[in-house]
Amino acid sequence: MSETVLEARGVRRSFSVSGGFMKPRRALHAVRGVDFTIRRGEVVGLVGESGCGKSTLAKLLLGLMPPSEGEILLEGAPISGQDRLETARRIQPIFQDPYSSLNPRKSIGTIIGLPLRVQTDLGGAEIARRVTETMDLVGLPARVVDSYPNQLSGGQRQRVAIARALINRPSIIICDEPTSALDVSVQSQILNLLQDLQREFGLTYLLISHDLSVVEHMASRVAVMYLGRIVEERPTAGLFAEARHPYARALLDSVLTPDPSLGIPDTHLGAAFPNPLEIPAGCSFHPRCPKAMPRCCTVAPDPLRIGDGMVECLLHAPDQHDEPEEETTR
Ligand SMILES: Nc1ncnc2c1ncn2[C@@H]1O[C@H](COP(=O)(O)OP(=O)(O)O)[C@@H](O)[C@H]1O
Ligand SMILES: [Mg+2]
Repeated sequence: MSETVLEARGVRRSFSVSGGFMKPRRALHAVRGVDFTIRRGEVVGLVGESGCGKSTLAKLLLGLMPPSEGEILLEGAPISGQDRLETARRIQPIFQDPYSSLNPRKSIGTIIGLPLRVQTDLGGAEIARRVTETMDLVGLPARVVDSYPNQLSGGQRQRVAIARALINRPSIIICDEPTSALDVSVQSQILNLLQDLQREFGLTYLLISHDLSVVEHMASRVAVMYLGRIVEERPTAGLFAEARHPYARALLDSVLTPDPSLGIPDTHLGAAFPNPLEIPAGCSFHPRCPKAMPRCCTVAPDPLRIGDGMVECLLHAPDQHDEPEEETTR
């Protein structure tokens, strides 16, 4: 088994939010105890509906925000004790909206070369050479080196963000909805580019999306998130063949939803949109679950290892099932 690059251990993050006029502030639990590892060379998908905590988890993993509890280890060492620049050299983000993540007043060449200027002591000529080489890798024409972000198309801007993430050869790249802000016609070009780069350089990615079809062809393993927890994690083929968690199944069915522009997959689970300010007791998915049993309202399921995956659902708990399968508790 290859080496672990990034690990989350019991990670939680809450926000204090306004409770409304004249009401006390309330705790919003965005990430509620996530354990997660990514090994070198792996592409791991993280999926779940809008608001389930994916971007919060991404920011925690990137060290952009401290966890309320738990810790993040990058190549075995807690990022909380690491130098900010060193963390940034080894773990790079690609965000959804390339326009807001690129400085509008800097030229494309300056933006792409920035990680080399702040993280290395390479000279100007060498930086310029690496910028040209990286622009070529991500399919940006050399002539845009002196252009500004507003002169580029959405797809080109995302190529700039990819070039900047890649230029100093990070250990892992965290892609948070890398194609969600792009025209449908450009989305697959960007995904293909990410996939080609991954294969060519053996890159390690965490690929975050609300859309399972985005991760299906790239990720070797997928984690499904619901209300701040990972409820199922499996090698991709197994998950797509037969998801164990009823929520994962509903998400898979939603791949066939005709209108991808809605941003939120139609899971056919009804209107009870999950609210992180009011997390249901027991299994947090029970109010929407087509298979809920009486005890799901009161008993929170523990993570269960099944084969090479994990599921958090009482349907699979040995003492809840008439015919236990090959489950073991971890
Ligand atoms: N800085 C913040 N302050 C308050 N609430 C936040 C903050 N960031 C995220 N949230 C809330 O945390 C929950 C998870 O958000 P997010 O991680 O962005 O989900 P996702 O990326 O899956 O759509 C949402 O309810 C969101 O409103
Ligand atoms: Mg998000």
